[in-house]
Parts: sequence; C-alpha cells; structure tokens
Amino acid sequence: MKNFAITVSAIAMLAGTAHANPEAEVLHWWTSGGEAKSVAVLQQEFADNGGTWTDMPVAGGGGDAAMQALRARVLAGNAPTAVQLKGPAIQEWYEEGVLADISAVAEAEGWADVLPASIAGHMKCDGSWCAAPVNVHRVDWIWANADVLESNGIAMPNTWEEFNAAAEKLQAAGIIPLAHGGQAWQDATVFEAVALGILGPDGFRKAFVDLDEATLTSPEMVAVFDQMRTMRGFVDPNFPGRDWNLATAMVMNGEAAFQIMGDWAKGEFLAAGKAPGEDFLCASVPGDGFLYNVDSFAMFAVDGDDKQAGQALLAELIVGQNFQKVFNLNKGSIPARTDVSLDDFDSCANLSADDMAASNEGGSLLPSYAHGMALRGAQSGAITDVVTSHFNSDMSSEDAVAQLAAAVANSM
Ligand code: GAL
Repeated sequence: MKNFAITVSAIAMLAGTAHANPEAEVLHWWTSGGEAKSVAVLQQEFADNGGTWTDMPVAGGGGDAAMQALRARVLAGNAPTAVQLKGPAIQEWYEEGVLADISAVAEAEGWADVLPASIAGHMKCDGSWCAAPVNVHRVDWIWANADVLESNGIAMPNTWEEFNAAAEKLQAAGIIPLAHGGQAWQDATVFEAVALGILGPDGFRKAFVDLDEATLTSPEMVAVFDQMRTMRGFVDPNFPGRDWNLATAMVMNGEAAFQIMGDWAKGEFLAAGKAPGEDFLCASVPGDGFLYNVDSFAMFAVDGDDKQAGQALLAELIVGQNFQKVFNLNKGSIPARTDVSLDDFDSCANLSADDMAASNEGGSLLPSYAHGMALRGAQSGAITDVVTSHFNSDMSSEDAVAQLAAAVANSM
C-alpha cells in the first residue's frame, strides 16, 4: 500500500532549482543552548544553498509539546514542510497519508550505502524513504562534575550499588547527588537507563520492544522500580517541572554531582565551554548494552514548487557529510553516516561509536523506548504514565509492575 501523499522527485528538484526558490518551515524542539547552536548549522547550510528557512521551534525537551503542535497543524490542513520526527511515529504519520516520499533524493545521494541498516530501517515506510536521519544519540549515559567527584573521593560508578553508595556519600557532604527534572519524559529516561542495567539487554528487549508480560511483571522489574525509588531520594526538592538543561547546569556548576541523560546533555556542557575529561565526565550507566535515539526529519505533503524544492534540499543537506559532522560536534551525538571521520570528535563521542559497534555485533544495540524509538505512541505513553506516577508517589514497586502490565495490555 502506498501511503505517500506526494513525491519529492529528484528530477523535479533538479528541474525546479532553476526556477524554484527553496523554502521550508521547520518544526523542531531544539531550543536549549546546545540544541539551538546545532540547529543553526542546518539553517546556515540551507541559507548558503539558497534556501529560505521559517523557524517553528516548540520548546519542551523530548518533543511532547512539538508533537502536539504538529497534530494541531496537520488537523488544520496546514502541515509544516519539515518536521523533527523519529522512530515508529514516522510510520504512524505515514499511515495517515500525510508524508512526502523522499526516495528520489535518498537514491540520488546513495543513502543506502552510507547508513547502517538498523538506522535506514527507521527511515523507511513500506520500503520507500520517508525520513532523513540526523544523528545517533546514546541515552544510557551518566554525566558527572569532575571536581565534585574528585574532591569527594568518588569514581564513576560501575554498578548501581556503587552509584547508590556514591550518592549517599555526596548527600552527606551537602551535594545533590542526582540532577533531575521532574517531567514525565525525564523520569522515563532515567527509568530506561536503570532498566537496561538491571534487566540486561535481553530483558530490556523483552520488556520494551516485545512487551512480554512475564518480563514486565518479573522480580527484576520490581528491582528496577526499587532502584527508581532509591533514586527519588537522591533528587533535590525543587525537581518538579525542571527542564533537563537546567539539571545539566546544576552538574556544571557543582550544585549536583550526576545526571542520567542522553548525550544532548554533552551539547550543553560543550556550549558552555566545558571540556570532557576535565570539567565533566561521561560513562555509560552500569550494565551492558546501548540505547540509541536517532533524530530525523520527515517531510510533510505540501503544495508548491518552492516548498517541494525546499524539502529536497533539506533532505540532501541533512544526510550530507558536512552537516553530519558539524551538527553532531555541537549536538553531543555521533553522525548517522558511517563514512564521517570521528577524529575531531571528543572521547565521549568516540566511546559512543565504539560501544555502538560492539553492541551491534553482540546483539545489545537497542532502541530507546523513552525517546520514541522502540514502540508506538500509545504503548510508550502507557509505560511512561506508570513510571512517572510511581516516581512521584509512594506507590510500591509491586503495584507499579502490576499497573505496568495492565497499562500495556490496555494500550494494545
Ligand atoms: C530527544 C531528542 C534530542 C534532544 C532531547 C532533549 O528526544 O532526540 O535531540 O533534543 O530530546 O530535547
């Protein structure tokens, strides 16, 4: 079944460039310091290539508010030309028949030769290309203030027990152990990092990709919620509603020691002039595996040569080598393309690339559920509702797993 509303044809694009003035209205949620610096790279390249960019930023980490804005625009029959969209949400919008087919650009640019199959799979709808990948973010990271750890005689933790012991020591010294923002997606981000560590890669896959009921209600899942309850004790009282980048700032200024967050947090450290290994430290969370979160853009069906030329130009630039390098140096992620040298990238990015390759080999490269890579919206939303209501109440871990299984079953 072909669900594309229009085709952005490379031929039309080539023929059109002589006459068309590429333009694009771009909906995204990149509004923090590091994010804004990163998206500015795309704006500049688009302008350098004759494009006119209309910015539609919708603030709100994780993109929940941006996705609401998108739905309102599409329902009003006025979709933006290009939208930051990822994971199964791409296929969900495709099924509504509102996406443009960008296969002509993808084929002309040889995307299939430079993207790993796992990433390319997310960019396809019924075999055709329907999104352009920007990067690979890793979600399961711990960030730390280097001075705070050193002056308290603490090393980066290798187990959750070590993490808890370090946090207790820091707390006794008057330092907030864990910088956290109480927003549902941030609770989910910490939860999935803990779950990867405690369930292991196979357990994570069974729980958050296969939605296996036995795993969702297992003693190991109870242990995941127990650890979340422990983490709740390491957060300061002002955490509700705090934006993720303000939590990162608490680590930067030494008010807090750790943050568990994807490597967009590194974009914040870098934008503030901080250096990895000196000012801040990065390590994967205790346990094996790699949770990936691939940002991408989908083009929506729009009329007009200028807009369609803008879509083709944007798609081409996004997967282009230069953009993939410069954008990701700012964003904290690594390129989606496999042929971009990482020589200019820092130690955290190189660790990410090495770990991604090793987990791919070992079968532990996993899609992030909290960042919309693993499940459709109804299922991931059902899980996050339970995670956040557990974190923000005194719900027992046993009740949480029972609610988890019920919420997942109801969402099917
Ligand atoms: C993620 C997104 C990242 C980053 C983060 C915080 O979902 O993939 O690029 O922007 O949200 O806003």
